[in-house]
Amino acid sequence: MIRCKNTIFVLETQNTQYVLGVDKYGYNHHLHWGKKCDINDFCTPQIGDQNSNHSMLDAFRQEYTPFGKTMYRGCAVKAEFFDGCREINLKYDGYAQKDDCLELQFSDTVYPLAITLHYQTYADCDIISRWVTVKNNGDTPIYFEKLCSAEFNLPSANPYTFKNTNGAWGGENIETNTLLEGGAWVNESRRGISGHNQSPYFIAYQNADEKSGDVYFATLAYSGNFKVKAERDLFGKTRIILGMNDFDFRFQLNAGETFDTPKVFCGYTQGFGEMSRQMHKFAVENILPKSHNDKLLPVLYNSWEATEFDVNCENQTALAKIAAEIGVELFVMDDGWFGKRNNDRAGLGDWFVNREKFPNGLDALINQVNALGMDFGIWVEPEMVNADSDLFRAHPDWTYHYDTREACELRNQRVLNMTREDVQEYVFNCLHTLLSEHNIKYIKWDMNRPFSETGAENLECPQMLWYLHTKAVYDIVDQLKALHPDVAIESCASGGGRTDYGALMHFDQVWTSDNTDAIDRMVIQKGYSLLKPIKTMRAWVTDINWYNKPCTLDFRFNIAMQGALGIGGNLTKYTEKDLEICKKNISLYKQIRPLVQFGKLYRNMDIDKDEILFNQYVNAEKTESVAFIAANGTRFYKKSVPMRFSGLDEQKRYTLSINGKTYEKSGAYLMNVGIDLEVRGADYNRIILINQV
Ligand code: GLA
Repeated sequence: MIRCKNTIFVLETQNTQYVLGVDKYGYNHHLHWGKKCDINDFCTPQIGDQNSNHSMLDAFRQEYTPFGKTMYRGCAVKAEFFDGCREINLKYDGYAQKDDCLELQFSDTVYPLAITLHYQTYADCDIISRWVTVKNNGDTPIYFEKLCSAEFNLPSANPYTFKNTNGAWGGENIETNTLLEGGAWVNESRRGISGHNQSPYFIAYQNADEKSGDVYFATLAYSGNFKVKAERDLFGKTRIILGMNDFDFRFQLNAGETFDTPKVFCGYTQGFGEMSRQMHKFAVENILPKSHNDKLLPVLYNSWEATEFDVNCENQTALAKIAAEIGVELFVMDDGWFGKRNNDRAGLGDWFVNREKFPNGLDALINQVNALGMDFGIWVEPEMVNADSDLFRAHPDWTYHYDTREACELRNQRVLNMTREDVQEYVFNCLHTLLSEHNIKYIKWDMNRPFSETGAENLECPQMLWYLHTKAVYDIVDQLKALHPDVAIESCASGGGRTDYGALMHFDQVWTSDNTDAIDRMVIQKGYSLLKPIKTMRAWVTDINWYNKPCTLDFRFNIAMQGALGIGGNLTKYTEKDLEICKKNISLYKQIRPLVQFGKLYRNMDIDKDEILFNQYVNAEKTESVAFIAANGTRFYKKSVPMRFSGLDEQKRYTLSINGKTYEKSGAYLMNVGIDLEVRGADYNRIILINQV
């Protein structure tokens, strides 16, 4: 709900309130974010006196700070006008409100620039979305040096701790917590994609844990270079600005043009658990593409770890037969099926079937997969080209490059200049043809290297390539989805290099990490679950063992079944007993997957803090739940650990079986007393179904 009183604007969700205002000078003020207060108490503060050491603009809380005047801290927007003036000086023009949307309109006092701040409330998820529109009302270009999506002010004068997930390839989503007492905290990407290393969001908290404490969070929906910068001043004001990175940034807005920044989704909750549950619900209902957001994800098999580049009709059919027997619903052939792709040195760009590997074409395999009762999916890496490819030989100028510089090849490949229309057309046509000519129901869209030699001679303002590349990817994915609505598309970038909310607005799911070691995955998946929906998190059972501790097949299933289950091991090497274990777990997963993919997640115990992972998923009606317990060896003799459940209805009675013993207890008992368990031994794992009596 949005209420406007004079120039005070109150945005309300079920449990939170966000208040802003404008004053007679045209300044936009941030007034409140958090629990609900009486709206009559709010007024815009008087801007104080300023002297040479105390700038008034530095001191007050703004919703969106332009560069200029005596403002010295970080700003949200900075532009250069035709005469070289690099200051923006805004006046307030009015507002518009419709349903859950509010816009506040400002324009420069002298130059033809209009800036609109947008807000949209999603009341039942307690989420607010923010973005900014800039419009050039003049007849010469305006160049932005900075153009962020939103600025936030936190209420307490005491320092906040900033949680983020940092990492690397094979170690995505590893939590970090940084206390910001003074100076700045920056999280960013300069790689062209959001990347494995830092994530485009902040989670700022005080005295918080899973169940309580103030938690403020905001995530940027953008897969390109981003920057999240928080600053805390001597007076205890903590501010955060999120947006496209101002590194190598120059954004040309031509006469008459309008531009919407990427959106930001933000919220305030008590505890991290509620934050995750609100964001999961919000993403599934409002963010994920509508073609698949409410559909259960199929159990997939992916051939990468079994056959790598050595795919052919025979070995894929052999894998497909076993996959079908154990209950797989979607068979995905990974890299190696096209061009001269026998290793990573050739073929990218040539999206035509390799006739040596598939003499009778792709359909020979697809028809067999379909006859086995499975859908067929395929791997592509459309933004890339190998120098050893027909595409590169025909169009050596289609990559980002400088004629005077040698290309840095990473994984022997170069990045296609996706800002060129001819490149976009080529990529779109290849994929559209592939999907039109074959019964393909799923695409794994990979992106295996960051950018370098970022020359784009086709662009008047080459720094715009960072944004335009990302936009081109989104546009092509959207066009393909519009023409092939039954095809699901997964975002992969060497594992989890592009799993941000921008990607989630276009792709249906993501590849979480190339690291499928179950022990590492406990941590990687927890970090992913903080803000991103479980439904999108592909998790495979494979044979890899990076942690140097082999895990039982049941243990690996326990971890992978906590996401969108996939199988990636070499099934031809599995024993009859292994295949029985696969069958049993896949069948159980099909039973519980509505809970996992659409339920509410409760992280009852944490593998790092408690040595035990204890996650629980509960349906909306609180009639069904599934709990996963896993420990990869515990210290001391964990003879009796009280396992207290969450998210149930205190009044309802439930049954559950653990270790062959059946219990019937009230929700109140299960949540407040719990069941004592002996958690010991290698690869301890249990899956507990909890049902209302
Ligand atoms: C990337 C992906 C893998 C696999 C390979 C294929 O590394 O993350 O899952 O698809 O590419 O080359």
